[in-house]
Amino acid sequence: SDPDLVARAMAAKLALGDRVFVLGHHYQRDEVIQFADVTGDSFKLAREAAARPDAEFIVFCGVHFMAESADILTTDAQKVILPDLAAGCSMADMAVLSQVETAWDLFEDLGIAGDVVPVTYMNSSADIKGFVGRNKGVVCTSSNAKRALDWAFEQGSKVFFLPDQHLGRNTAVLEMGYSLDDCVLYDPHKPHGGLAPEQLRNAKMILWRGHCSVHGRFTLPVVEEVRERVPGVNVLVHPECRHEVVTAADYVGSTEYIIKTVEAAPAGSAWAIGTELNLVRRLANAHPDKQIMFLDRTVCYCSTMNRIDLPHLVWALEELVAGRTPNQITVDPDTSAYARSALDQMLALP
Ligand code: 13P
Ligand code: SF4
Repeated sequence: SDPDLVARAMAAKLALGDRVFVLGHHYQRDEVIQFADVTGDSFKLAREAAARPDAEFIVFCGVHFMAESADILTTDAQKVILPDLAAGCSMADMAVLSQVETAWDLFEDLGIAGDVVPVTYMNSSADIKGFVGRNKGVVCTSSNAKRALDWAFEQGSKVFFLPDQHLGRNTAVLEMGYSLDDCVLYDPHKPHGGLAPEQLRNAKMILWRGHCSVHGRFTLPVVEEVRERVPGVNVLVHPECRHEVVTAADYVGSTEYIIKTVEAAPAGSAWAIGTELNLVRRLANAHPDKQIMFLDRTVCYCSTMNRIDLPHLVWALEELVAGRTPNQITVDPDTSAYARSALDQMLALP
């Protein structure tokens, strides 16, 4: 990366000292991740944000829903900064509060709302987390989805899972013994979600029709192709991948799990990894003794994660040095209180 920008970032961090804490998600660029005080998956970063009450500024190198969650979990005095406001998430955008309320109204009309526990993936807006908190549900991430669903099925007989259909289905079917027939797909763009009342009455998992535009591109043929091309290869994927891809893989887990699995692997072993490209590249560079490859060479970066680049980070840090607060992410107090109860419920999972 540009040596002048590197020097400016270092100088700004030095000038701010303990007043600033920089969090970096594993999908961030190398040029940004080098300035993170902590790197992690979305669960670890949420915990880290909550554990830094002394930092006046949390600079979140990640995407918007993560910065919102950090704002919810930090004190009122702390300010959360997202270096580029355009760093959103297409999956989070697939669930809008009014659509989710329409679905809930339908469950009420059918007399099943009392049996349904809402569970939302971290990758959702604060509005959706607030809705889930108001209706006594829980947030989950890719590293604790099974524990969150275990808890939810102790509270009620059905789960309404937002917004990632794949994480919901993969966890219920591959980790908890539910069948594909226990799952129905609620499409917010169709009347009644495109479902008949009987389907909703019989379902265990009501999955929202959302997905990740990056992970959704990995397919079963590429898994088969890499197994043929590289005998003995280990296929390691993120649970946001499609059900048939996760079913065909050898290992599945969050970004933090992916890193730990590769670190623990023996020298000489081969790994085809189905997740975002910045992370796979970094793993390949860090482990030259292992054969690490991208599961599908045509799948590219998460374009919104990549929005946070070194120029944006330098700009944000220098603004803070100058006494201004750029790109602060705030969640309104009412939404924040309900979202917080759903996040606290997650943090309290056994
Ligand atoms: P995790 O970091 O929880 O594995 O999530 C991946 C992701 O898609 C974040 O946007
Ligand atoms: Fe959203 Fe997928 Fe990008 Fe994660 S990788 S931020 S889920 S679009």
